[in-house]
Amino acid sequence: MAKKEIRSIAVLTSGGDAPGMNCAIRSIVRTAIGHGIKVYGIKRGFLGLINNDMFEMNASSVGNIIQRGGTILNSSRCPEFKDQINRKKAHQILEDRDIDALIVIGGDGSFKGAIALSTENDFPVIGIPGTIDNDISGTEYTIGFDTAVQTAIEAVDKIRDTAASNERTFLIEVMGARTSSIALKVGICTGAENVLLNNKKVDYEKISKAIRRGMRRGKNSSIIIVAEGEKPGRSYEISHILEDMHHISSKVCVLGHIQRGGSPASNDRFYGSMMGMMAVESLLDNKYQHAVVVKDSKLEVVALSECAQKSDHVMNGFEGIAEELSI
Ligand code: F6P
Repeated sequence: MAKKEIRSIAVLTSGGDAPGMNCAIRSIVRTAIGHGIKVYGIKRGFLGLINNDMFEMNASSVGNIIQRGGTILNSSRCPEFKDQINRKKAHQILEDRDIDALIVIGGDGSFKGAIALSTENDFPVIGIPGTIDNDISGTEYTIGFDTAVQTAIEAVDKIRDTAASNERTFLIEVMGARTSSIALKVGICTGAENVLLNNKKVDYEKISKAIRRGMRRGKNSSIIIVAEGEKPGRSYEISHILEDMHHISSKVCVLGHIQRGGSPASNDRFYGSMMGMMAVESLLDNKYQHAVVVKDSKLEVVALSECAQKSDHVMNGFEGIAEELSI
């Protein structure tokens, strides 16, 4: 890609929002201003870009947001951006406004859109991984994961109180449409008796044996963490089958979007801030189709294409640990 002087950039947040996105926006805006670069905030992700919905930001536009969940720029899923005609339109809008580069904070789908925009129009883009699911190839961390896991842990701890008091089994469903990263981490951190992954058939025999074994040695309650999978609410069906086929009654709690909100935890504030800063610095370093990632526990800049796939690698190797520790 031809080198160019970066004098003006735009930033957008795309896909599901995640706590810590505001920290990244704040860092981008203030780093850019520190380098004398103009910054535009695009509303509602790629949808706002296509609709030319953006505004110039200054240091105070991002004041008092480091502690706030969600994204001040709003976010959306934008299937329209899969259409090259809309990407052409988006590029024209960026050109007309003299914007030299775009920073996209989002997941693998958002990065695919960013790569297409960049490749088709020779336009610099930088990706910052932002999704609570921690499910992007090429990075060990995505902004929002820590907060979502902490929120789920707090909820499970509370449910444990009532589960133990009333001697019940609970199925607690956590987010992760195509990955089980949240479920696995929450399962280990809450001492769950079982973690049901979203890509594995449920082994009812194994679950009921484990629950009965626990009961025999005095356990009066069990927590099963369920990764939601494609269809949120699958825990209800699992609960019915446990009851009908194995005579184990259970209560269901689907945590849902509570996991997407809340004040960002320390990792999300830290990585949001660092990734935002490095994204701007990468552009100044003539890196034009890259992403800021965590690799081998270090912050790095890699080709954006490395991060454009959904991947369950982060918690690989941790399957079965919660079960082993909860005998
Ligand atoms: O942000 C990721 C994620 O939370 C998934 O785990 C979840 O299934 C999905 O987004 C749901 O998001 P929405 O309600 O925005 O479609």
